[in-house]
Amino acid sequence: MGELGMSQLIDNYGRKHRDLRVSLTDRCSLRCSYCMPHDFSDWLKSEHLLNTDELMLIIENAVAVGIEEVRLTGGEPLLRADIVEIVSRISSLPNAPKLSLTTNGLRLKELAKPLADAGLERINVSLDTLDRGRFKTLTYRDRIDDVFSGLSAARAAGLAPIKINAVLLQGVNDDEAPALLKWALAEGFSLRFIEQMPLDAGGIWNRETMVTAGVVLAALSKEFDLVAATDRGSSPAEEFFINGTQETVGIIASVTQPFCGACDRLRLTSDGQLRSCLFSLEEMDLRSVVRNPELSPAQIAQEISTRFHKTVAGKLPGHGINDVTFIQPRRPMSAIGG
Ligand code: 5AD
Ligand code: SF4
Repeated sequence: MGELGMSQLIDNYGRKHRDLRVSLTDRCSLRCSYCMPHDFSDWLKSEHLLNTDELMLIIENAVAVGIEEVRLTGGEPLLRADIVEIVSRISSLPNAPKLSLTTNGLRLKELAKPLADAGLERINVSLDTLDRGRFKTLTYRDRIDDVFSGLSAARAAGLAPIKINAVLLQGVNDDEAPALLKWALAEGFSLRFIEQMPLDAGGIWNRETMVTAGVVLAALSKEFDLVAATDRGSSPAEEFFINGTQETVGIIASVTQPFCGACDRLRLTSDGQLRSCLFSLEEMDLRSVVRNPELSPAQIAQEISTRFHKTVAGKLPGHGINDVTFIQPRRPMSAIGG
């Protein structure tokens, strides 16, 4: 395999793909407005969702073709009844990939410990505001206390680092960047701000009102001394050292300063479609491969490998958000995974 270069996923622009984001469900217990409308109902069909074995078959073969890191996402991945089993089975794979999980935190109170015991080491939790009323406005659910208790449970379970993802929206929480950072520093969490991207099912994204990385940086700089860290690698977050310490805050300028040139990610949807980008307009069907009773395990492995390579070969150089010809993908963020 190695001789033919089959075990490396290198695209036409020289980017080597090592990271697979796996969406486990498009369902969610919140309704963040930048992600889905509060009355969203266009869910994926349950018979199309990959079961645990189908998912593992794809992940195992992804590792065989060069994936070194798996991030479980959603929707809300902790809504999957088999989440602990999935984590345990991925952690026990020979050549186990680095594993992480992005969650809204609501179920961490019960699940942080079982997940850590199953082999999960680190976690990202989405939290955009510290204020109960704002949380309710933003997510349509009055559940900020569950996020806080989930975070405590994650810390108690030894998950580290605990990263917080925050999206700022004009007129909702755009004045909260310094308060969020003070809180994160006090709690020992690592905070990253993400620019809002045009991926919501409701189509509310608006370039004019989007809170840019520049605006976030300016707001933080009024209260903190920030120095850009070099060596960003393939990380989309630009990290800044805070007040001369080793602690950092990240800013992900997905729209205003795209990091597509260093992208090393592929994405698998919960209904078994492989995507080369959040913004892809095309998908590669893997569900039909793992569900094909005519194929032997070796043929399945071969076909999954072929489809990973084809997906990578078709990857575009960038997301094109800033092009006049940009078309938002039909599949919303909740069905792709962040
Ligand atoms: N733009 C930017 N980030 C988003 N997220 C969800 N929707 C969007 C969007 N439209 C974030 C969530 C979560 C991560 C998976 O993606 O806040 O932290
Ligand atoms: Fe749920 Fe995450 Fe979307 Fe919020 S951003 S509605 S937590 S999937």
